[in-house]
Amino acid sequence: MSKWGIEEKETIEAINNIGFSGNILNIAAGDGRFNNRLLELSDSVTAIDIDNSELKNLEENCPKYLLDKLYTKAVDITQKLPFQDETFDGVFCTGTLHLFDRDTIIKILQEIKRVLKTKGRIVLDFATDIKRLDKYQNQVVFEGEGNYTTDEAVSLFENQLKEFSLNIGVAAFMEENLEDDAGYNYISGNFLVISGKARGKEY
Ligand SMILES: C[S@@+](CC[C@H](N)C(=O)[O-])C[C@H]1O[C@@H](n2cnc3c(N)ncnc32)[C@H](O)[C@@H]1O
Repeated sequence: MSKWGIEEKETIEAINNIGFSGNILNIAAGDGRFNNRLLELSDSVTAIDIDNSELKNLEENCPKYLLDKLYTKAVDITQKLPFQDETFDGVFCTGTLHLFDRDTIIKILQEIKRVLKTKGRIVLDFATDIKRLDKYQNQVVFEGEGNYTTDEAVSLFENQLKEFSLNIGVAAFMEENLEDDAGYNYISGNFLVISGKARGKEY
């Protein structure tokens, strides 16, 4: 299993419903939770993350028969993405956007829209109302993290993704007994699953 937890059923449903195909960008892919599922559906997956050790684990977690469709690259997603405009048929990002402040999230969403093809598809998730505990039950707060409420997050994505026919679902999550290198042992909260098809580019 990924050190970042299970593959939530709501996200699996969104992946299946959106109809991913072609070339997919997996942003902040970590050790590859959901990545093999994306590979099964597509011609290629480009998995990017700032941390090369995550990408190494992602490659190790990829079955041999899917490896020739997998590309990995160390990328800081707070900077301009190193891809041309309209490169990808789909963009996927889970477990990550909530780590950034509002301006950075908006910048990342602009970059997602830039590298996505006209009528491309997205599946993103976004954790809200987060509570993390270490193994001694102390609260863990990540510096710089927004800790958004569900309503704030819904309106942020509705405003920033007007070019998409969007579907936003809300579910609860809870993970415990996580490995020490996740930085916390327990996490709970809600998460949005945001999926959409671009109506055609006007941005
Ligand atoms: C909680 S993990 C989620 C990983 C994976 N997407 C998943 O859902 O399991 C967050 C990931 O974001 C990556 N990350 C954090 N800041 C980043 C940045 N500025 N650029 C690219 N990746 C980043 C971390 O290295 C980590 O792999």
